[in-house]
Amino acid sequence: MKLPHHTLRAALASTALVVALAPAWAAGDAEAGRAKAQACAVCHGTLGISTAPDAPHLAGQPALYLAAQLRAYRSGARKHEVMAVMAKPLSDDDIGNLAAWFGTAMNDADFEAWLARAWDEHAGNPEGVLARLQADAQALLHSEARRPALLHLAHHVCGEHLGRWQEGLDLLQRLSALPADAAGGTADPAAARFISSLALAGGIRDGRDGLSVSDRIRVTALAAASLAAHDGTRAHALLQEALVQFDAARLPPGDPCTRALAASSNNLAATLEERPQRSAEEVALMLLAAQSARRFWAVAGTWLETERAEYRLAMSWLKAGSPQQACAHARQCLAIVQAQPEPGAPALEHFFAWEAVGKAEHAAGNQPARSQALQQAQAWFDKLDASDAGWCRASLEALNAQARIA
Ligand code: HEC
Repeated sequence: MKLPHHTLRAALASTALVVALAPAWAAGDAEAGRAKAQACAVCHGTLGISTAPDAPHLAGQPALYLAAQLRAYRSGARKHEVMAVMAKPLSDDDIGNLAAWFGTAMNDADFEAWLARAWDEHAGNPEGVLARLQADAQALLHSEARRPALLHLAHHVCGEHLGRWQEGLDLLQRLSALPADAAGGTADPAAARFISSLALAGGIRDGRDGLSVSDRIRVTALAAASLAAHDGTRAHALLQEALVQFDAARLPPGDPCTRALAASSNNLAATLEERPQRSAEEVALMLLAAQSARRFWAVAGTWLETERAEYRLAMSWLKAGSPQQACAHARQCLAIVQAQPEPGAPALEHFFAWEAVGKAEHAAGNQPARSQALQQAQAWFDKLDASDAGWCRASLEALNAQARIA
């Protein structure tokens, strides 16, 4: 969905967001600048990420600075043969607009860093990440290629973490309407699925009627995952609905909804595992989700995803208080890891498979098996590269602590 710019502005004028963005817009019209910027693209790129070796990046530089430089080239106060020619015909308005366009853009490296930080922080500080998304949307969305990542983050934070359905819908709608680079204009099916699923989860509307069977299933499963931490009963009903729809649909193998069901089910189980406590219904939902993740990854994923789904199942059974089941799935996870042909599965997978076995055997009260798993986990931990060892250390220590207490 793509709104003309003036409609978008009118829509935004009613929200608090306009306050944060007002200074950039007041200085110049970024949309008008985008059109003018075609003339600069050969050297500075359409987004201000320069392609010519001697041309500086313009993206994200302060608009005031950019405008001052353009006026200086125009007057001759700053001397450069090419830029003098480029700046000569520009009016003051053109300069303001160009500066607004390039000045609001965030370059690719900064964008990647922004995104990585947001994912790092989102579980601990979802409100903060949401506020940054809302404030920075315009600067972030300077290229079409960035849209899916932003939609995904917005959907996940507003749904799974915050359960702020209407606010999430507003943000998703805004993200899918904001003009990115010149191409744009085609309706994005992923955006439509994200939007429908939040609306469905929030009980705002059920827009699934117009969707293909495959998209219907994806939207239903996404909504179930978003609801996991907020309304277990509805999450359960929606996941079951998605599974029934899937079994009835007889979609061709490889249909993208298989993968989507696997991912949504996995997220749902993971969300419930992380809860400090679970009702009996939430336990049932967690197990159903973990089983369905395993079922669909086996069809749509690689050995790695299937193996990790076994890990997830082992953890879900542990949280459900069934150590025997947990042991069986932890062993299954280990078997998949050990079955990988030369050069073998990465050390990280061995480490987590043994960690799962260790936890499950501990819960089952099987001391010799637990000790063996602990030794193996330690041995594989020693083979991890430094970056993995950093975040895996806590898991190893937890395993050790468990052994000491026992
Ligand atoms: C043919 C290549 C080329 C084109 C086309 C071009 N530029 Fe430049 N631009 C340059 C080069 C090279 C420099 C570095 C000039 C210097 O050293 O002062 C530059 C510098 C600039 C600067 C100063 C940046 C800074 O960090 O100080 C701005 C602003 C700028 N260009 C804007 C524009 C705009 C706006 C357009 C289109 C209307 C444009 N340029 C078109 C090559 C180009």
